[in-house]
This record gives sequence, structure tokens and C-alpha cells, in this order.
Amino acid sequence: MSLQIDILTVLPELLESPFNHSILKRAKEKGLLGIRVHPLRKWAVNDYGQIDDYQYGGGAGMVMMPEPLANAIETLSQEGPFDDIIYMTPDGERLNQKMANGLSLKGRLLLICGHYKGIDQRIRDKYVTREISIGDYVLSGGELAAAVLVDAIGRLIPGVLNDETSALFDSFQDNLLAPPVYSRPAEWRGLKVPDILLSGDPKKIEDWRHEQSLQRTRQRRPDLLEGEED
Ligand code: ADE
Repeated sequence: MSLQIDILTVLPELLESPFNHSILKRAKEKGLLGIRVHPLRKWAVNDYGQIDDYQYGGGAGMVMMPEPLANAIETLSQEGPFDDIIYMTPDGERLNQKMANGLSLKGRLLLICGHYKGIDQRIRDKYVTREISIGDYVLSGGELAAAVLVDAIGRLIPGVLNDETSALFDSFQDNLLAPPVYSRPAEWRGLKVPDILLSGDPKKIEDWRHEQSLQRTRQRRPDLLEGEED
């Protein structure tokens, strides 16, 4: 196994399907990616399955209690250390391609999905090594964010993509957006594929694609060219 990802969640049902299709499914079948989803209620503090409680100081919204999370983390750690224990949270470091590249080279990750008002700060202080946000908006829980992170990482694990699906030319790999792409027919409803793509000249095609990438990035994401997203 190249990368083993464990996910802690109160809603395991939400994560039943996202990893069972397309590239991630292939990655699992090739034995390069392992994903285990653990229901946090397994480590609940009582027979009612309680894992959250009111927050000290008052205010609306429940907080995920420290004990179930600590027990889960400690149990899973007995199988071996995690390279990173990642808490999915809107106040974390914003996910980008460079982070995904780095995480795809790790061996074992634990993702913690928050719910309600989030998890008790002491768990963040004591166990969490990294906090990741998938963007500046608030989701109802960390599950969909974890699914996004696993997808972004999983496809980058060495050996998962072949030449045809290579990530080398993805948007963001060089801080550039990807160029436009076309398929058959060469003329569709009066709209033509740029001649250069039909020229059969690999050098010219490569130069054209690079130029298109630059143009697109300048127009849509000038911040990438200034290196702000590094
Ligand atoms: N949980 C709720 N919103 C989130 C976000 N934007 N990123 C990561 N985890 C989250």
C-alpha cells in the first residue's frame, strides 16, 4: 500500500460512494490507496452514542467532545504512527495543488471531519498536526471536504495515473491554468478546432498550449503568476 487514509466521521454514510468510482477506485484496486472510514460513535462516551456536548461559555451549537476523538486517534495509532493527523476545518490552511502533491507522497494519514461547532480545541492542540480548509465557505461538516482532499491526493499517488491521464499538465501544476481542449469533430455547428491542433506539429502544439495557459491564467487568475498561491 502506497498511501493509507483513515477517516473519522459521525456520518460515515456520506463517504460511502465518493471513493468507489473512476480513478480512486482504480487506485484502490491497484493497491496504491487504502481508505477506511471509521464511525466516531464507535468511541462514544455512553450507550446513547453521545459524541458531542454544549460548549463552555454558552452559545448555540454543540462541540465534539475530546474523549471519543482521543480514544479513536489512540486506537488507530496503535497500528502505527500517522504522518499527519489532519483536521478538516474552514479556519485551516487553504488547500492547493502544492499541498496535494506533498500529501500524496505520505504513507499514512488520518482525517478528522468536524461537525456542529467543531471539535474541542484540546484535540487540536494535542493530536492534530495539520488543519486544512478546502475554501472560504462553510460546509455543514468536514466529510465533503475530506472527500475533496482524498480525491485531490489520491490521483497524484505515484503509479495511479498513466501517461494518458497524467497530472503533469493539470491546472495549477506550474501555477498555470490548463489550456482549452477539443475533441472530434474538427468542425461542430460551424465552430472550428484551432488549426494548430490539427497540424500534427508537436512543438507548435506545445507552444500554443503554453501560450493559451498563460493567457488564461493572466485573465482569470493573475494571482497565480504573482506566486501568491505558493
Ligand atoms: N468543514 C466545514 N467547512 C469546511 C471547509 N471549507 N473546509 C474544510 N472543512 C470544512
